[in-house]
Amino acid sequence: MPDTFFASVLDKNSDGVITHSLSQLPMSELAPDQILVKVACSSLNYKDALVYQGHPGIARHYPHVPGIDAAGTVVRSPHPDFPAGTAVIVTGFGLGTSAWGGHAEYIAVPADWLVRRPSAMSAEDSMALGTAGFTAALCVDALLRHDTRPEQGEILVSGASGGVGSVAVALLAQLGFQVAAVTRKPGLEAYFHQLGAQRTVAAAELATAPERALHKEEYAGAIDTVGGSTLSTLLKRIRYGGSVAACGMAENANFSSTVFPFILRGVNLLGIDSVAYPQSRRQAIWDKLANEWRLPQLQAITQAIGLKEVEAASQAMLAGERTGRTVVVI
Ligand SMILES: NC(=O)c1ccc[n+]([C@@H]2O[C@H](COP(=O)([O-])OP(=O)(O)OC[C@H]3O[C@@H](n4cnc5c(N)ncnc54)[C@H](OP(=O)(O)O)[C@@H]3O)[C@@H](O)[C@H]2O)c1
Repeated sequence: MPDTFFASVLDKNSDGVITHSLSQLPMSELAPDQILVKVACSSLNYKDALVYQGHPGIARHYPHVPGIDAAGTVVRSPHPDFPAGTAVIVTGFGLGTSAWGGHAEYIAVPADWLVRRPSAMSAEDSMALGTAGFTAALCVDALLRHDTRPEQGEILVSGASGGVGSVAVALLAQLGFQVAAVTRKPGLEAYFHQLGAQRTVAAAELATAPERALHKEEYAGAIDTVGGSTLSTLLKRIRYGGSVAACGMAENANFSSTVFPFILRGVNLLGIDSVAYPQSRRQAIWDKLANEWRLPQLQAITQAIGLKEVEAASQAMLAGERTGRTVVVI
């Protein structure tokens, strides 16, 4: 085992300014009683971008290693369920927030953060999905559990060109749903068509007069990744008994609504959390993503970058300038 490992490191100086470097860290910093994983690749998520850009309240301590996702191989383990040599995926829990994350050659994590990487899925493909793809799968799973079916009509996906949105569009299309991809970016019709969307809707077109409590019933359901006025307005357009899976806040963490979508149309607002989602149910979702929910378009919507490029990519991500998913090759 080497004495040091390479990592992307954020530090906070005495003026509170966050600095970024690629550094060697001592292996002794990784807790010896946890499972040591050699990381093959990670990814870039919205939350990682917030951490790189110094948004408060996500990274708990400095120096900090970002990266809420990792795929790799167990190299040292006190746990019989995950012996050395096991191919694993870690997403969420405290990775890259309370604990050092996957933008590094090694991570040390508790056994209950690990999922076995399905044999039908490469490490690169697991990170092309990452937290974003896993969250998209949780949104789709929640809609299906609430009896949303293709024959009921169109499903709207907001923030559709982002990581969660792109995977959500592709998954829904693969399951036979008609999908309307809602985006602020012009000129992405071919991208959404490739993912399987029937229609692209400019985000501005969704806006309704704020004083209107309800709009014409249009969509059987929705996956909302942006919150804010988008979530407020799409709730007014959901058909009787439809469901909205809400997972994001790229536009705004606040939204407003009357109770009318809920009490006059029986609309369900479904909260989606990928971070603390129970380990006992994670494996089934990853197994689906590797098999019956496997996405042939995944590589076409994924870019690979190295650790040197992550800072610039995180700036572009928060500016809403990136499309699809980003794998970070370690
Ligand atoms: N609940 C969970 O467990 C969970 C897990 C993963 C992610 N998330 C959240 O889900 C959201 C999406 O994550 P992601 O990884 O997919 O991020 P992403 O790749 O950056 O995608 C976000 C997308 O949102 C849209 N957007 C960006 N800024 C916006 C703004 N100011 N107003 C309206 N739309 C905007 C853009 O899509 P268009 O240009 O196509 O409109 C952008 O591509 C984030 O808020 C993230 O924190 C939550």
